[in-house]
Amino acid sequence: MSIQRTFSIIKPDATERNLTGAVNAVIEEAGLRIVAQKRILMSRREAETFYGVHRERPFFGELVDFMTSGPVVVQVLEGENAVLRYREVMGATNPANAADGTIRKKFARSIGENSVHGSDSVENAAIEIAQFFSGNEIVG
Ligand code: CMP
Repeated sequence: MSIQRTFSIIKPDATERNLTGAVNAVIEEAGLRIVAQKRILMSRREAETFYGVHRERPFFGELVDFMTSGPVVVQVLEGENAVLRYREVMGATNPANAADGTIRKKFARSIGENSVHGSDSVENAAIEIAQFFSGNEIVG
């Protein structure tokens, strides 16, 4: 077991429904610690950079439109095996396949409006955290 950090986004479908606290409660109950957090409006350029690996996918434009459609809450989460742990807590990308008790099962509307993002590896977590936070904004 190792202490890791992962990057999280609470997406516009969740902030619109005032679910930031409800999502954070699931995160904290799962043993993860929110060590940085801010509510922002993502610019198109930020969203296109963040989701650059999906640029060729048919849903890329829709994804960027959605992520810039309203406030998001970007976060750094810390804990034992935080990357995998948070992916378990989020549940499957498509809420139809998400397990009971997961954030996406509880709150997501669809595969696109799926309430949260979490990094898929320790390496990507570091890259994603660096896109939105400077070191002194993360307090463990
Ligand atoms: P996320 O973990 O933020 O990473 C990429 C996102 O693309 C994913 O969550 C989904 O919200 C979104 N996505 C994946 N597949 C589709 C799809 N078929 N249609 C729309 N959005 C999608």
